[in-house]
Parts: sequence; structure tokens; C-alpha cells
Amino acid sequence: MAYSSSFMLPLLLLLSLSLYATIATATGHEHAATKEKMTHLHFYFHEMYSGPNATGLVVAVPPGKNSSIDTFGALIVIDDMLREGPERSSKLIGRAQGLSAQASLDGTALLTAINFVFTEGEYNGSTVAILGRAVPSAPAIERTIVGGSGRFRMARGYTVSKVISWGGGYFLMEFDAYIIHH
Ligand SMILES: *[C@@H]1O[C@H](CO)[C@@H](O)[C@H](O)[C@H]1NC(C)=O
Ligand SMILES: *[C@@H]1O[C@H](CO)[C@@H](O)[C@H](O)[C@H]1NC(C)=O
Ligand SMILES: *[C@@H]1O[C@H](CO)[C@@H](O)[C@H](O)[C@H]1NC(C)=O
Repeated sequence: MAYSSSFMLPLLLLLSLSLYATIATATGHEHAATKEKMTHLHFYFHEMYSGPNATGLVVAVPPGKNSSIDTFGALIVIDDMLREGPERSSKLIGRAQGLSAQASLDGTALLTAINFVFTEGEYNGSTVAILGRAVPSAPAIERTIVGGSGRFRMARGYTVSKVISWGGGYFLMEFDAYIIHH
């Protein structure tokens, strides 16, 4: 009866979760939720993917395959620029440090795990952690914000981005980040 035990587990989880919620309320830990705010950030993501100062490079692919990001298994590690605007000379406001792996056999969808590290203004030194699926050809790419640090402690939320241009060794994306945090 493996069948019935697979039903038991979620039920037990639910019961213990609701028990926890009751205890948390009773001891007054609910105050944290009331201080949450939403921050919307809009910026551009610049990547140089070739040349001497490349900020994103293909570093691992299966043996015998082309080292293109369209190849299943390809992995790129990035330290890309976050800028206020789409121009390459636009003010640098942070870096995007992380990785993209080609996780679709047909070469169309990436798994991305990226820390956005802000370096300007009130968010200097604060980070948000992004985990999500990216289909570069899609009109909009939605990814999950799974956490943060500094001003973005306890962050959750999502980002919406779209590819503006891709070619000549340069990749440009527009980003909106909707961040719920304390
Ligand atoms: C690469 O970076 C160096 C040092 O910042 C700079 O002098 C050079 O012009 C850059 N080259 C290109 C092609 O961006
Ligand atoms: C690499 O890609 C080129 C162009 O898409 C193709 O002609 C070639 O056969 C590929 N090589 C391998 C080893 O897959
Ligand atoms: C950001 O913080 C770092 C480390 O505290 C500091 O060195 C730097 O000057 C700050 N930058 C700005 C623009 O405030």
C-alpha cells in the first residue's frame, strides 16, 4: 500500500504547518509580516560575451559538442553589468554574478541562478538571489526572487525581463524586479 502512504505525508505536513502557524501567532511573531514593503527596480543587464574583457563565457560543454549556449549541458558563468539604461556608457548600479545552464534538450531554455549585487545608493552592498527558467526567445522572461541580503533580507518576488539585443559579442536585456522585503 505505497499508494496510501503517499497521501499521508502531505496531510501530516499540512497538520504540522497549521500547528506551527497557531504557535507563531500565539507568541506574537506575526509582527514581521506587517512591515513588509514592495520595491520595484528597473535596470538593464549588459553582457560582453566575447573579446578580451568578456563578462560571460561558456565554460563547460559535453565532449565533442559545439560550445554554444544552445547546446544541452552548456554552462556559462557570468559577472555581468547592471546599468541604469541601455547605453553601454550608462551608470553602473551593480553586477549580475552567477550561472546559466542549458537545461533543455532542444536548446531553448536555460536554468539561471544569479545574485544581483547592487553597488550604488541606498542598495549599495545589498543583494537579491534569482532562480529561474529563461527562454531567451520569449517576449517576457519571468524568474523567481528566492531571497536577498542587506536591504533585501527575507526577499521574495519576481523579475520580468526581455532581450533587447543580442549580437556582435554583446547581449542586452531590460529588467524589472518586484521585490517584497522587510
Ligand atoms: C578591456 O579592458 C581594458 C582595461 O579596462 C581596456 O583598456 C580595453 O580598452 C578593453 N578592451 C575592450 C575591447 O573593451
Ligand atoms: C558545430 O556547429 C556548426 C554550425 O552550427 C556545425 O556545422 C557543426 O557540425 C557543429 N559541430 C559539432 C561537433 O557539433
Ligand atoms: C558602496 O559600499 C562600498 C563598501 O562599503 C564602498 O567602498 C563604496 O564606496 C560604496 N559605493 C557607493 C557609491 O556608495
